[in-house]
Amino acid sequence: MIGIEVNTNWTPDSWKSHEARHLPTYLDAGALAAAEQKLADYPPLVFAGEARALKASLAEVANGEAFLLQGGDCAESFAEFHPNNIRDTFRVLLQMAVVLTFAGKLPVVKVGRIAGQFAKPRSSDTETKDGVTLPSYFGDNVNGIEFDAETRRNDPERMVRAYSQAAATLNLLRAFAGGGYANLRQVHQWTLDFMGRSPWAEKFDEISVRIGEALDFMEACGVDPATVPQLQGTSFHTSHEALLLPYEQAMTRQDSLTGDWFDTSAHMLWIGDRTRFEGSAHVEFARGIGNPLGMKCGPSMEPDVLLKLLDTLNPGREAGRITLISRFGHDKVEAGLPKLVRAVKAEGHPVVWSCDPMHGNVIKADSGYKTRPFDRIMTEVQGFFAVHRAEGTHAGGVHIEMTGQDVTECTGGGVAITDAGLSDRYHTHCDPRLNAAQSLELAFKIAELLNDEATERARQAA
Ligand code: PEP
Ligand code: CO
Repeated sequence: MIGIEVNTNWTPDSWKSHEARHLPTYLDAGALAAAEQKLADYPPLVFAGEARALKASLAEVANGEAFLLQGGDCAESFAEFHPNNIRDTFRVLLQMAVVLTFAGKLPVVKVGRIAGQFAKPRSSDTETKDGVTLPSYFGDNVNGIEFDAETRRNDPERMVRAYSQAAATLNLLRAFAGGGYANLRQVHQWTLDFMGRSPWAEKFDEISVRIGEALDFMEACGVDPATVPQLQGTSFHTSHEALLLPYEQAMTRQDSLTGDWFDTSAHMLWIGDRTRFEGSAHVEFARGIGNPLGMKCGPSMEPDVLLKLLDTLNPGREAGRITLISRFGHDKVEAGLPKLVRAVKAEGHPVVWSCDPMHGNVIKADSGYKTRPFDRIMTEVQGFFAVHRAEGTHAGGVHIEMTGQDVTECTGGGVAITDAGLSDRYHTHCDPRLNAAQSLELAFKIAELLNDEATERARQAA
């Protein structure tokens, strides 16, 4: 719990007196105030107790007893809002979690990059095409992606639409998680038709059969979904980058049970690599909310800055409060990550270490598409595990951009998407995502790495 003392001088709008980068400019202050007021009057999307429960699960990850799986779209969009998309993303996350739990033998904390992941930081405020300059696309909760003056106008009313979409998405996710869809007896049904072509689909079938047998055995022993509710459903949490501060502020409420402030737009919020500098408005906002927080750490992060940020964001050194999401790139992780891990360990800050193998591995394919080669993603994950093994810390999780759809956005993987094939189904509104088959393949490979980690730990304990 955050004590009164550390919250001195913090208010939901104290970020306004700090340097805010990557926020859109709204020309109509009246329209902005009206949208903020509407949001402030709407019901919270999550309850503080749920955010606390996620923090407790993340504390287990920080202690090396569980693994964090965080994934979803780079950017959710109004155009792709469809129950099938939500179901398919949820289903692939469940499949990945089953693989990690079964083959990696660790409980998995499932967090979607979903139900609120709309806003995007842009390197430039404006974009120029054929001599015409318009505001950059900041995500569907700010403006539209088409390059014309009206669509690109930053419109605060879009925050209200994003809230509705997040609410409906979260409602369906809660129904899936608790209503029977996630029942382990259904594990066979989670296989997607188009996964048949993936060599990993067969491996998943094998696991499903073995889980079925294990459930039969347990049922014969009197343990079944009726007696053990964990078998019937699953817990699933939501997260997004807390980038669009007017929206996040409007969703921030005081918990009636404890008096602490929570950003009720999602269970977990994270600070992006471009907004985690010292003195940042985004850091100021995040320090006062009680939610579990993520923070991206890229190649420019220095150990002393990181330690100061940790003191600011987690002065009480509460385990589960902070997840550090490293995103160095396949060729930089092994050189760059150890100094951060050592500093954090030496200082005794309890953190979850998670690996985002996506944002440091974007390249432009010969075809002109932005892509991420599967091999580089895998190499960064392997490097991340190697660093933690060498430092004696727990490789605690992954943070990935993925979708349950059969898209062609990242090259490689078992279904071998080529440069030339990228144009077939390239649908992302922002960065290239792993498709369902590539996500499942990644889970199997991470499970192997988790097994190696467990073997190493047992060897050291012996
Ligand atoms: C993101 O996660 O979509 C993102 C923008 O990442 P980063 O802040 O690490 O660049
Ligand atoms: Co992205």
